[in-house]
Amino acid sequence: MCGIVGYIGDREATPILVEGLKTLEYRGYDSAGVAIYNDKIDLVKTKGRLKDLVKTLGDSNMKGTMGIGHTRWATHGEPSYLNAHPHMNSDVDIALVHNGIIENYIELREELIEKGYKFVSETDTETIVHLITESEKTTDTFLDAILAAASRIDGSYALGVISHKNPDEIIAVRKESPLVIGIGEGENFIASDIPALLKHTRNVYFLEDNEIAILRKESVKLLDMDKNEVKKEIFRVTWDMDAAEKAGFNHFMLKEIHEQPRVMRDVLAQRIDETSTEIKLDQLKIDKELLKRVNKVYLVACGTASYAAEVGKELLQKVARIPAVMETASEFRYKDPIIDENTLMIVVSQSGETADTLAALRMAKKSGAYVIAAVNVVGSTMAREADDVLYLCAGPEIAVASTKAYSAQLVAMYLISIKIGRLLGKINDTEFIELRDALLKLPTQIEKILAREEEIKMLAYKHLDMKNIFYIGRGLDYAASLEGALKIKEIAYLHAESYPAGELKHGPIALIENGSVLMGILGQEYLMEKTISNIKEVKARGAEVIAIALEGNEKVKKIADDVIYVPATHWMLTTLLVNIPQQLFAYYIACGLGHDVDKPRNLAKSVTVE
Ligand code: G6P
Repeated sequence: MCGIVGYIGDREATPILVEGLKTLEYRGYDSAGVAIYNDKIDLVKTKGRLKDLVKTLGDSNMKGTMGIGHTRWATHGEPSYLNAHPHMNSDVDIALVHNGIIENYIELREELIEKGYKFVSETDTETIVHLITESEKTTDTFLDAILAAASRIDGSYALGVISHKNPDEIIAVRKESPLVIGIGEGENFIASDIPALLKHTRNVYFLEDNEIAILRKESVKLLDMDKNEVKKEIFRVTWDMDAAEKAGFNHFMLKEIHEQPRVMRDVLAQRIDETSTEIKLDQLKIDKELLKRVNKVYLVACGTASYAAEVGKELLQKVARIPAVMETASEFRYKDPIIDENTLMIVVSQSGETADTLAALRMAKKSGAYVIAAVNVVGSTMAREADDVLYLCAGPEIAVASTKAYSAQLVAMYLISIKIGRLLGKINDTEFIELRDALLKLPTQIEKILAREEEIKMLAYKHLDMKNIFYIGRGLDYAASLEGALKIKEIAYLHAESYPAGELKHGPIALIENGSVLMGILGQEYLMEKTISNIKEVKARGAEVIAIALEGNEKVKKIADDVIYVPATHWMLTTLLVNIPQQLFAYYIACGLGHDVDKPRNLAKSVTVE
């Protein structure tokens, strides 16, 4: 949510900042801006996307070798020129970019207005820049002024600040919003995420909460809030920018859908040996001893990740026989959950930075729980703070709507439940071998589904005029249907609702009329007859039914108007296969309706505010 970048060195800063922001647009894209120091601070910003900023910059001829930039996802105040970052003080000598939310900004704003400060925007961020100016009156250095301002702020922030009076430094501060420092030769960088740095350096520091970075051309100094120097290891990024290019596909989303067989192959090759009866999850430290004391598992996540967690919950209960609950992270921490040292928490997240999920992780750790993070982004805050990490290894996911990371999250849920099931002796060798062989077939089975892309595209085009769509399923199919409906909402902007199939008749069926569209998910063979009965109920009321079913299911053909078949597999793994047609269906509906698939309206990929 909001992307920030900063550069200090000998090169022209503007193109470096703009290139960096391009890779961070997934974090927000309603306005953007850059501030460059060159004897004075020049500011260019604009409402709209980065391409609008580039157009505006085209006429500005901004020169300078130090600067900061921002791409925004509005929280306080509409997307507009005045609300766009960087924000500056009235003397126009300090510029600042911010990612996060200042919770006490109203009190601070009132206090500063009383002291005579003039606000030009509706943002919480502008408060900080005036607060620094005010703090300068009672402090000796610019750093002290920033620290004094930070001590007054409640909430989350990643800040990049430059000052006319402090022309050789960018100062960056982090509290609960991600910030990475890129270490170059004779130049240094700040960014909200690694892709913004990769063209220039692979050496990075991850700033932790309440840490400050002072960037000069030749050096980076890390401090805590008491100005004690912090020493940390340089992290070397090993993955490539190619992974973040479109490679000939029309959209990142389509490319990422097509990457799934390869991602699955890579992940499974690392975790499963086709002759072994154990899963290779060496990096996971959980063992039998620890599991003996676990009496409850909380799976906590947001958005798409929460639907993967929903699958994890079902599997842990069914396969490992441990009581498990899935909690939406934004609700979890306000529920006064019962957590102690006998609790296992599994947080699931693509970014590893989602504010609510991170808060749940911290809450659990404070109460003594053991936390496993199933995350994609290497070195992310969740990965660093959890007791155990299982990396998803999906590679960078750029499209806002998650596809390959979701599949990788499902695989993580499969692997964790199998591992726990094995440790607890609930899965015997024969059952394991059956599961292992089924897992290894997944990549080829996904390829088989992707080969039906044209058929799914036609089906989507046939339904371009639908106004809403219901998704139903039972058990694991219900979990899958939640993700199917979310994809439609996210990128096609259509009302899509998912219900447990049996629940339809307790209310929602009143909405079914001639022409209503329903997607029935039939991956779970043992529940198939029951879901078919529910499909018949809506058919009888005029609905048009699309079914996603396993190959060999002839029965469904007689009831549904259209059937998309996916290869049959082990019951635990069907969620992954039935979801691939859901992804393509949503993608082609969105394309058919002419929407910006990769950057859907109002959304951001990484939600680092509550
Ligand atoms: C945002 C994204 C979703 C994602 C959710 C959780 O809403 O748009 O695609 O599922 O955040 O993100 P995480 O990074 O924690 O998986």
